[in-house]
Amino acid sequence: MTTASRPFVPRATGRPMTRPEGPQKVRGTAPYTVETPGTDALYLSPVQAGVARGRVTAIDTSAAEALDGVVAVLTHEDAPRLAREADADHGVLQSATIHQHGQYLAAVLATSSETAREAASLVTVDVVEEPHAAVLDEDSPEVYAPAALVVGATDDTRGDPETALADAEVVLRATYRTPMEHHQAMEPHATVARWEGERLVVHEATQAVSWTRQALAAAFGLEESSIEVISQHVGGGFGSKGGTHPNTVLTALAARVVPGRSVRYALTRQQTFDLVGYRPATVQHVALGADRDGRLTAITHDVVTQGSRIGEFVEPAAAFSRGMYAAEARRTTHRVVPLDIGAPTFMRAPGEAPGSFAGESAMDELAIELGIDPVELRVRNEPEVDPETGLPFSSRNLVACLRRGAERFGWAERDPAPRARLVDGWWHGTGVAAASFPVVRFPGSEATIRAVGGRDGDGDGPVGYAVEIAAAEIGQGARAALTAIAADALDVPVERIDLRIGDTAFGAAGPAGGSAGTTSWGATIVEAAERFRDKYGDDPDDGDEADASTPDNPWASDYAMHAYGAHFVEVAVHADTGEIRVPRMLGVFAAGRIVNPLTARSQFLGGMTWGLSAALHEESVLDDRFGHVVNRDLAGYHVATNADVGAVEVEWLDENDPYVNPMGTKGIGEIGIVGVAAAIANAAHHATGVRVRSLPITLDAFL
Ligand code: MOS
Repeated sequence: MTTASRPFVPRATGRPMTRPEGPQKVRGTAPYTVETPGTDALYLSPVQAGVARGRVTAIDTSAAEALDGVVAVLTHEDAPRLAREADADHGVLQSATIHQHGQYLAAVLATSSETAREAASLVTVDVVEEPHAAVLDEDSPEVYAPAALVVGATDDTRGDPETALADAEVVLRATYRTPMEHHQAMEPHATVARWEGERLVVHEATQAVSWTRQALAAAFGLEESSIEVISQHVGGGFGSKGGTHPNTVLTALAARVVPGRSVRYALTRQQTFDLVGYRPATVQHVALGADRDGRLTAITHDVVTQGSRIGEFVEPAAAFSRGMYAAEARRTTHRVVPLDIGAPTFMRAPGEAPGSFAGESAMDELAIELGIDPVELRVRNEPEVDPETGLPFSSRNLVACLRRGAERFGWAERDPAPRARLVDGWWHGTGVAAASFPVVRFPGSEATIRAVGGRDGDGDGPVGYAVEIAAAEIGQGARAALTAIAADALDVPVERIDLRIGDTAFGAAGPAGGSAGTTSWGATIVEAAERFRDKYGDDPDDGDEADASTPDNPWASDYAMHAYGAHFVEVAVHADTGEIRVPRMLGVFAAGRIVNPLTARSQFLGGMTWGLSAALHEESVLDDRFGHVVNRDLAGYHVATNADVGAVEVEWLDENDPYVNPMGTKGIGEIGIVGVAAAIANAAHHATGVRVRSLPITLDAFL
């Protein structure tokens, strides 16, 4: 693959651009999946398991079937078979085995959602329970080493970390814990599925129409060309809508028994705690060895995470420590405890979010131990080359982020003594933490550019460009960003770009995930624009067309590529009640060229808000007896609100990285959350003298 031969000149990129679909969204006319007009539509309501492990011995659907408006009730006894082994498709009515609480045991199709729900409540299921385990016990005899992580090796050892720790002048050892957390997108997962003969048409709330199509093709034994997946607007995904979960397969399966009719299934808020993934709990043992000057000599970061017997996803929390700081000796390991719960999945900054809580808390503890300023300690351990790969960095401006943040935050005036500032009954303190996130490019997106309108026949008016790519708009601003990139790549104003996304009709595409959407789709669009201009110049005729798939990055094996950031926060803890507030948060980022400052600010801010939320509130509480999350709604699963925080400031440094991609983008969807919880815990320690090593940080820690 080649790269762009023309320089990418940012004209539209880098300027604030409102969302093209903004007016529709504000008016409530942007169609989300569940609002897709159906054909003779039916509503699906499931019956779910109330035990964590066992077998269905009998199901009685007669009362449900007798209800007016019920069209079908499917169970494992009569549901259509999928293409794979029954147990490979757990939870979609393929066998009597129960693998987790909440698993689908039956599905009702009815003419209204109310009827479907009532009918589901009339289905009776007999089950035999089997022994199970749901809650993470790091000493479980079943703990295992996974084959690999999505981001590299399970374990990675350099040098002799134990000897280096034994020889170190100063050693910090601590264990940090993060809880199970559930994504809570505003829009719950939703599917509208219809079969037209052997062709399946699915509207889906997804981060990747292509991935959904692949998963459905595998489940039903179809060619991908027999399936179309459409997703025009998505109300948040955060990783939970990246993979395809049983709800989607179940809806398509149920639609099979009513050919030609649309089957609609939107999860209830409670159901989003069952089957669509979560961030697994972690136990993280960290050890840092250093000399008296604060130079790290050893880093070990050993992680045990919650796993599932039905689907492996390993939270790569220790991977964060592979690239942050220079140290001769280092060990990072990951272990998993298999449990009888649903499968975990990606959640915003998988690995980095919990991993940075441990790593960046430990750096703060070490700084205190050494009597070195925590900003200075990080600067002293800045690596010259990437500690993980040994490659030079394409650009690394962590120090610049720390310095700029310190300046803006007023860090220089900080008195390092903990528990020294009591103001009106509140202990105040400040904290810092660093952040990083890799630059990811997913291969295999396809883009098509076609000249449309204007010049056909009479030659009047400027030509427009239809730019087609199956990208996902999940609220992050893909439509605006890709419109600007296409305009610059074609060297035309944005008004002449007609961007079409969210449909597998436009080919394969990588996900809105891994902070890689803009990079992967953008590089593909730039490549297609290059080809278009090579073929037709800048004065094309109506119908002229060129396409491209994602080019490889020719620098990928020459440079290590990451975005960086620094968080500075102020925390106030009430002296009597232990209530915790965050009066100030500042995030400074170096993440390549920022395509759209308007939506970019929102992404950083959104990440930081989630970091605040994880620091103070978020925790899914499992009931070990039944294997379900007890606080399964937004009344019980607390998230941060305005009352938690005062000023939230976002800043980014201009960074011109010629190696990442033609646009110079690094990805910004996830880095905002990385390090926030550590910065808050560090500030809480500075405020109170109490070190909290377990999230969320709740008031009882200070009493
Ligand atoms: Mo994100 S967790 O890469 O969807």
